[in-house]
Amino acid sequence: MALGVQSTEIQEHFNKLFSAILVEQQKFDHIKSADENKKVLLETKLKEYEQLKGRGFFYTFMATGKGHGPFVELVDGSVKYDLINAIGVNLLGHSHPIYIKANLEAATSDTMMAGNLLSYQEPYELSKVILNAVSSSRLKHFWFSCSGSFSNDTALKILWQKKAPNYRLIAFQKSFAGRSIAMQDVTYNSSYREGMPSSIQVDHVPHYNYKDPKNALAETLKALDDLIEKNGNAYCALTIELIQGEAGFIFGTKEYYEGIFKWAKSKGIYIWIDEVQSFARTHQLFAYQMFGLDEYVDVVTVGKVLQACGTFYTEELNPKPGLIAGTFNGSIASMNAGKAIVRYLTEGNFYGENGRINELEKKFKTEFKNLAEGSCKGKIPYYGGVGTMLSFEVGDSSNDLTNKFMKKLFENGIISFSAGKDPTRVRFLLPLSLLDEHIHEIFSILEKTIHEVI
Ligand SMILES: Cc1ncc(COP(=O)(O)O)c(C=O)c1O
Repeated sequence: MALGVQSTEIQEHFNKLFSAILVEQQKFDHIKSADENKKVLLETKLKEYEQLKGRGFFYTFMATGKGHGPFVELVDGSVKYDLINAIGVNLLGHSHPIYIKANLEAATSDTMMAGNLLSYQEPYELSKVILNAVSSSRLKHFWFSCSGSFSNDTALKILWQKKAPNYRLIAFQKSFAGRSIAMQDVTYNSSYREGMPSSIQVDHVPHYNYKDPKNALAETLKALDDLIEKNGNAYCALTIELIQGEAGFIFGTKEYYEGIFKWAKSKGIYIWIDEVQSFARTHQLFAYQMFGLDEYVDVVTVGKVLQACGTFYTEELNPKPGLIAGTFNGSIASMNAGKAIVRYLTEGNFYGENGRINELEKKFKTEFKNLAEGSCKGKIPYYGGVGTMLSFEVGDSSNDLTNKFMKKLFENGIISFSAGKDPTRVRFLLPLSLLDEHIHEIFSILEKTIHEVI
């Protein structure tokens, strides 16, 4: 239901426009190679854009705005499987009816962006829906931001204020938290902050050691105890991605996380879960819910799939007036989409043992197993992940070979992206719109590409 102007005439046009757009987009339902006469156009536009940006792109990719389900059209007329979808944003798939409707609804509003000072109905509606989805935890409030990084900055400010002057933060090796001045320090990869002064005090401990699961918890607890011994309990919080995205989907077990969280609670250290990438992509709406960790979470940050970003926190952590503010909540279209997405995902059959996400995971893992033990024996040393966050290694798992593989895969019609270093993995953030016929085609392209490159 549109929330701006409404009339019978608008509704009639709305319905017609909605159907007409969907019918046109649905034509993009299979992969296709580039049109000879459009190849130059794509290269020219990208070159110009590279000049404007001052930086080259990894892929020769610029979208036309046309695409449906897992398929996206490029300016050169090629159509590819989009298995990375803007690094995890487009879970529902291209031109999903929810996206089309959210945009059309937004067009009936008198503004583009909702803000904090003079509120609109859309952020209120989305807040209600999203807070209802965390009702089994102590999380009581949700504050909008315009990026995952800024949601994390908000989390940190809230925690700092509560625990002042205990400003030290515990984070995990291989973590990624975003690009803001604070979050570049939380992020483990030091090449992302070359030439930067360090601005916050953050200590990294090992995440789950999947090569030695029996000792993983003890290893992390030892590192945590060492921190307290070295710095005293000067810590406000522990921040963790339960599924480490940029690391290539490293994750632990419920027992592992419970062990860490109990340790933190016993020291008065708050628990902040970064779900910017994992939100909506595992076997529950939140990864912390999948692991049954509801009772422990104090702060949770989200972004990407929601089409909006923000920070959940408990009553106890509600900051003093003046600490958090900002012009924007996000666009009206994003708020409309976010609300519909949460309802669609939680009311449909996507989560749990028998949900579509688990089904997709199983289908992909079976196909990976067939390749790794069959025609590609010895060429896929690893495959794994959870839900729609899946990754695999090829050949020697080196950065160079993985990049070469991904570029060939792109040429052959599949868009992926890398994650991690030593080993480097090929990462898929799958859309939910994949059908069996798509999965079979994807794996025959993967098989062909592996034979071409390795
Ligand atoms: C776990 C995690 N946290 C934070 C961020 C930063 O989000 P954004 O790029 O929207 O600032 C990302 C982005 O990839 C992420 O994966």
